[in-house]
Amino acid sequence: MHKLIDHPCVQHKLAIIRDVETGHKRFRELATEITKFLCYEALQNIPTKDITVTTPVGEAKARKIATDLVVVPILRAGVGMLDGILELVPTARVGFVGLFRDEATKQPMTYYERFPPQIKGGTCFVVDPMVATGGSTVAALDLLKTNGADNIVVICIVTCPEGLARVNEAHPDVAVYTAAIDERLDERKYIVPGLGDAGDRLFGTP
Ligand code: URA
Repeated sequence: MHKLIDHPCVQHKLAIIRDVETGHKRFRELATEITKFLCYEALQNIPTKDITVTTPVGEAKARKIATDLVVVPILRAGVGMLDGILELVPTARVGFVGLFRDEATKQPMTYYERFPPQIKGGTCFVVDPMVATGGSTVAALDLLKTNGADNIVVICIVTCPEGLARVNEAHPDVAVYTAAIDERLDERKYIVPGLGDAGDRLFGTP
């Protein structure tokens, strides 16, 4: 399942972040701003509990978030989405997944994983700006589920049909929230038209 966030504010920012002339400072700011909108949508379905609050004038029925939230950026580019989600939910915990591609097997291999115990029973948000082939996303989801997570959402800025199909096939229970579903992958497995290498553009590396 996926949800395309087609809001004009998101699409406006997406137009600027895609632009080859946008430098790393503005790119980082936009990644944070877009992530905030995407996460706002994705948080719509998290569990809440009914409570009563005493105001200066009376009793109000109210709702509070009733789940532990864990954000899991996929290194390195996922780190560029961390601030956006933490601005919305500052009490969220943070786990990390680091993956590299084994050139012999072409499979993603884990070089780093660290999760808070709240992934079990809580709601996990896997963040990665680009879901291209979907290989890293599926590997991160496999890892989280092996460690006990069973309520996971993926947030990306741009994806493509191949990536969505791969994630959906391996993890049909996981919703993918995105600002764009682009045309295709090129021979280097970059999303076309995409926005280039999100990690390099975020961190100003060549
Ligand atoms: N990763 C990126 O940073 N960009 C792409 O287009 C695909 C994967």
